[in-house]
Amino acid sequence: MRILLTFVLLSIIWSCSLQKNRNNQIEQIKDQLIKKDDIIDGRWPEYTVEGKWKFRKKVNWFSGFTGGELFLMYELTKDEELKRRALIHADSLLNYAGIDYTHDMGFIFLPTCVRAYNETGEEKYKKAALLAAEMLYKRFNTNGNFIRAWGKLGSEKKAGWIIIDTMMNLELLFWTYEVSGDQKYYDVALSHAQTTLKAAIRKDYSSYHVIEFDPETGEVLKKRTHQGFGDESTWARGQAWGVYGFTNSFKRTQDSVFLETAQKMADYYINKLPEDNVPFWDLDLAGEDVLKDASAGAVLASGLFDLAELSNGLLSDKYRNYAKKITQSLLENYTFKSSNRDTEQGLLIHAIYHHHKGWGMDESYPAGDYFFMEALNKYFKLINK
Ligand code: GLY
Repeated sequence: MRILLTFVLLSIIWSCSLQKNRNNQIEQIKDQLIKKDDIIDGRWPEYTVEGKWKFRKKVNWFSGFTGGELFLMYELTKDEELKRRALIHADSLLNYAGIDYTHDMGFIFLPTCVRAYNETGEEKYKKAALLAAEMLYKRFNTNGNFIRAWGKLGSEKKAGWIIIDTMMNLELLFWTYEVSGDQKYYDVALSHAQTTLKAAIRKDYSSYHVIEFDPETGEVLKKRTHQGFGDESTWARGQAWGVYGFTNSFKRTQDSVFLETAQKMADYYINKLPEDNVPFWDLDLAGEDVLKDASAGAVLASGLFDLAELSNGLLSDKYRNYAKKITQSLLENYTFKSSNRDTEQGLLIHAIYHHHKGWGMDESYPAGDYFFMEALNKYFKLINK
């Protein structure tokens, strides 16, 4: 009896100290996020140089992420100050919902205006998110059944280019279908996912980053990379966008071909993970001299948490375990807390924004921070269950 009581007591003490440790971790990240928000001060961050944020004049795919991180941290801590700050970010984007130069409307408006609408029910956020979705919808090319990635609407340059990243923006179209009931958004999202699957996913379930179509005939002209090591290699973040994006498409359409694609892409990825489970920046590269892209790990982890929910049996366990392992590894060795510089202004370090251009090399950048927060949220919810 005494042994049993001692065991129960020790278990309670151990679990309390674990909980305290988790709370400390969350508090430290929350403080860093607030510090970052103060530094950003209404500007659009791009990536850090020596740990310090560099800014950009124009709204781009990064512009919704800090607001999104604040909402996610609010969800974890219920600290109203975070919500107040997040809503300022959503408000600052209201006038940009009509921009016509990017496919990244989901990256910008899902974490901010859609989220703000869900939190507050205020029409202004819904209106902005619906307009953003309309601008994305307008980028659909009916000759090739794809959403063009880059360039101003109506411009000729790169009119036929798609990238695997767009899979993540489809969620805005699916959401719009759900709230408006207008089938056209669903159809375009479904069609783009089918085109991406056919053109950008290889037989072994690795992926191309960019596909160039003839915008008039819809014929494939070239398969290539933009941010990966080579045309035939697999860019780590691109493959993560694929895992997460096809998971979302399955969740929304229930078409099992998307589930199978997400699972096989995840399996391909898992086989390429190094010992600490954080990927090198391209899945065809490895070794001591090759940089990691912690942001690819964060996107993958967040996507795997969702994929685990949609998969059955052993596969579900496998994806959940990897999602946890990657998140733990990021938490232990890839945040500002592990840095040997005292200048870090981001959350997740050792990410790469754009290797060929030398932008944000082994630094922080907004997508890395945001998807790290997403993975962290899912991780803490799971282990606190
Ligand atoms: N969506 C652009 C990137 O992943 O860098």
